[in-house]
Amino acid sequence: MKRRIVALGTVVALGFGLSACSGGGAGSDVIILRVALNQTETHPSYVALSNYSDRLEEQTDGRMRLDIFPNETLGAQAEVLQLLSDNIIDLGIISGSQMENLSGDFLVLNMPGVFDSVEHQMPVVHDPEIVGELYTSLEDSNDITVMGGFTQGSRHIYTKNKVTSLADLDGVKIRVQESELNLAMIRALGGSPTPMAFGEVYTALQSGVLDGAENNEVSYFTQKHFEVAPFFTNSNHLVGLDYMVASTEMLEGLAPEDRQLLEDEWINTYENHTQLWDEATQEAIEGAQAGGAEWVEIDQEEVRAALEPLADEFLTTPTQRELYDKIRAAAPGQED
Ligand code: GCU
Repeated sequence: MKRRIVALGTVVALGFGLSACSGGGAGSDVIILRVALNQTETHPSYVALSNYSDRLEEQTDGRMRLDIFPNETLGAQAEVLQLLSDNIIDLGIISGSQMENLSGDFLVLNMPGVFDSVEHQMPVVHDPEIVGELYTSLEDSNDITVMGGFTQGSRHIYTKNKVTSLADLDGVKIRVQESELNLAMIRALGGSPTPMAFGEVYTALQSGVLDGAENNEVSYFTQKHFEVAPFFTNSNHLVGLDYMVASTEMLEGLAPEDRQLLEDEWINTYENHTQLWDEATQEAIEGAQAGGAEWVEIDQEEVRAALEPLADEFLTTPTQRELYDKIRAAAPGQED
């Protein structure tokens, strides 16, 4: 029995029918896969998806492509998950925090400290030996399949008023993605967490409902948060992950050759995204600084020590521990 993820709100009112996926044999009908994204058109995730679409189109003589909906046009990620589950849309880029609300096993990959770097993260999140079972684990309950992920890079705290140590976070309202682990993370750092959807953060910072937020440099810049929270720390509290989530029904409806192509080209897509990431981060830092943002050093060792107890608190099942240990064992410098 499929579980409903969230109430859909206004999204249904957009009136999408089923996607144009034919389910027919390769070489016949046109397949247009709708993809939901909450980033702007300048974000590396949009660029990589757009390149993905071009390659699919080229390799099928125009028969298969993506229709990308950026800027949360199809709703916040929690709503998009429901649309995927109902096979109303085909693909979506969904942050790990939202997946954590569906299965505690996804929490492992959101744990501060589980990944040392993007170089550690990307091979692990595409290694079937480590994540294979996790990625198919929501097929029966929610009709969604994870194909892999895009890195979110390192996440850092940024604020309206300057913060130079964890002590300065006392009473400071920091927006977090909606999950228990994120709430606990900001509490452990001494701040007051406020869960909120991504698209609402700019206005909440501007109006003073929030005193700060946490994200990577790229979103800080592309969402223009630097305009309303100009102090960006180097807290480096988490290497974040966005998943490429597919409607299982859509995947199963594809002809085997088409599914294979979609999966093969996904590999080129996340590799392309990883290549774009560093440059986009550098451009974001320069752009935000040119717009008046100031980079503030805080003690990363203090941050790491404050977050260390979270693993014992949150990783409570043998499956979670085993997954965590496998990921840690794959960290550069840890292999046999
Ligand atoms: C990053 C991530 C998004 C996520 C956002 C957030 O930008 O790429 O998928 O929604 O953080 O903080 O909500």
